[in-house]
Amino acid sequence: MSWIRDCSLNAFQSFCARVLRCGPIPNHVAFIMDGNRRYAKKKNVQKVKGHSMGFDKLAETLQWCLELGIYEVTVYAFSIENFKRTAEEVSSLFELMREKFNRLLEEEDKLMEQGVCIRVIGNLTLLPADLVTLIAKAVLLTKDNSRAFLNVAISYTSQDEMCEAAKLIIDGVHKNLITVEDITIELFSRCLYTSQSPDPELLIRTSGETRLSDFLLWQVSNSYLHFTDVLWPEFSAWHLFWAVFLYQRHCDSLPKDNTSHVCENENSRVDKFIKSIEDKRLEFLKSAVSSVV
Ligand code: FPP
Ligand code: MG
Repeated sequence: MSWIRDCSLNAFQSFCARVLRCGPIPNHVAFIMDGNRRYAKKKNVQKVKGHSMGFDKLAETLQWCLELGIYEVTVYAFSIENFKRTAEEVSSLFELMREKFNRLLEEEDKLMEQGVCIRVIGNLTLLPADLVTLIAKAVLLTKDNSRAFLNVAISYTSQDEMCEAAKLIIDGVHKNLITVEDITIELFSRCLYTSQSPDPELLIRTSGETRLSDFLLWQVSNSYLHFTDVLWPEFSAWHLFWAVFLYQRHCDSLPKDNTSHVCENENSRVDKFIKSIEDKRLEFLKSAVSSVV
């Protein structure tokens, strides 16, 4: 199945989406897509089929989000902890990702027409090189799109992300690019993989687990968290609407995200340091593409 789908809302659901749009809509929603294997067991199919149906649900959910006016989505597709699963499951998940990223590249025209920017967040050095090449191609192809943003967390954990940010900062101090006094909450945020995104206002986790599983721990400190029992492949537009409705009921009491990712002084030392990190990340992606023989 394709990443880009036609909208699957029926007339009544479209009406409800329009009603919800009269209230505050989160700019950015994060999903922990949990329950694929339990769904596979329930349906008596192989685990990888559960993950593949999980991908189909992701494509559907992205369309529902656009219908609601949610233009940024971050999903947890593969955590560093997931490397501990059986070799068979890990390799079948990577094979599914290869298939989907290849499909995404084939859909280049549609993707560019829709203006979707795909970002992959995580420690890509832990992934097979050919998968990194595909990911890098998709990210570089869409990097200037700005109508909608999809951030896919692969080989990600929040603790690893924070360690990597700490290493970058320490390196910056050693090289005299920044000083210890420059280290602020804003600087730390800008060193994370998610530096280009506002924090999600809403996080949804399916499958009845009420944990964050090391996902966006820094970024969701002020977000509305919604846990639902439904298994991810069974997630429906109604589940999304309900989560957004509950967010609307609570959003007035949520602290506002006051970490600005916008440079106040283009030439400041800190901005130059952040630019050097962005350049390094871009260079990594470009070298992953050009290393293919
Ligand atoms: C959690 O369910 C799901 C995952 C670990 C994988 C999610 C991956 C996808 C939906 C495909 C993503 C692909 C791309 C290209 C973005 P689980 O395996 O923990 O299931 P369980 O909780 O029932 O055991
Ligand atoms: Mg799980």
